[in-house]
Amino acid sequence: MVRTQVIKPRIREILSRELPYELVGMLPKHWVQIGDVLILPLRPELEPYKHRIAEVYAQVLGVKTVLRKGRIGGEFRETNYEVLYGGDTVTVHVENGVKYKLDAARVMFSPANVKERVRMAKVARPGELVVDMFAGIGHLSLPMAVHGRARVIAIEKSPYTFRFLVENIELNGVWDRMTAYNIDNRDFPGEDIADRVLMGYVVKTHEFIPKALRIAKDGALIHYHNTVPERLMPEEPFGTFQRIAREHGYEVEKLNELVIKRYAPGVWHVVIDVKVFKR
Ligand SMILES: C[S@@+](CC[C@H](N)C(=O)[O-])C[C@H]1O[C@@H](n2cnc3c(N)ncnc32)[C@H](O)[C@@H]1O
Repeated sequence: MVRTQVIKPRIREILSRELPYELVGMLPKHWVQIGDVLILPLRPELEPYKHRIAEVYAQVLGVKTVLRKGRIGGEFRETNYEVLYGGDTVTVHVENGVKYKLDAARVMFSPANVKERVRMAKVARPGELVVDMFAGIGHLSLPMAVHGRARVIAIEKSPYTFRFLVENIELNGVWDRMTAYNIDNRDFPGEDIADRVLMGYVVKTHEFIPKALRIAKDGALIHYHNTVPERLMPEEPFGTFQRIAREHGYEVEKLNELVIKRYAPGVWHVVIDVKVFKR
């Protein structure tokens, strides 16, 4: 990503000798690099040349594997990216001094969420207990354990993603303060324990608000993510959070609101920081 000004002309130069003229202009100008795996968005017109294109990008950028960008979906937010070049899709991505091992073909890692991963590293306090209800590979909670020295309980339902979460705890040397559970967060037995609850999920996060409230201590902070249609902003997502919390006997105070990224046309991924009090 850093050297794109030099790299793009190099790629064009090589491929313009092999591709029909009208296709050269369609070559991807942006890509995502996770560790030594590249995720390339490819237009359908480039289909017949996809393997050669991937090979050239891999050689010029010095990566071992190239994937074709596809969709993220389902309960586990898994990806199903096609391998265009190479084969090994497991990589270690280093960001903000945190090591994230993952299978880039199957586990989501959104570059657009980087600000939030960095913010979580800053807000965490030594010794406080964070419960991460949607841990993934530790996207948001590893920075809290590594930089903030917080104690973390990380819950991840997908067995495949969970393997990487456990490896990442080892890899970052935070096994003394980070524990992982491979369960549905609704089955987590802890109540009234967390100083901070992470709800890093989208689309259906509101369904988990009652459980988050039970896990939270009185006066805890909840980082609540959700996807919000633009026409409902700025009332949402706080309005729904407040309504559900009140139904369950809690009062809430919004401390902060940030837009993370565009999720779909007219829909935004938003996070709010909410302090919760028992009535
Ligand atoms: C989209 S990832 C987000 C990772 C991270 N929180 C972030 O914001 O970057 C959400 C993760 O939550 C997991 N998940 C979904 N439903 C869950 C549940 N009921 N209990 C525990 N984990 C769940 C998924 O498998 C997925 O790995």
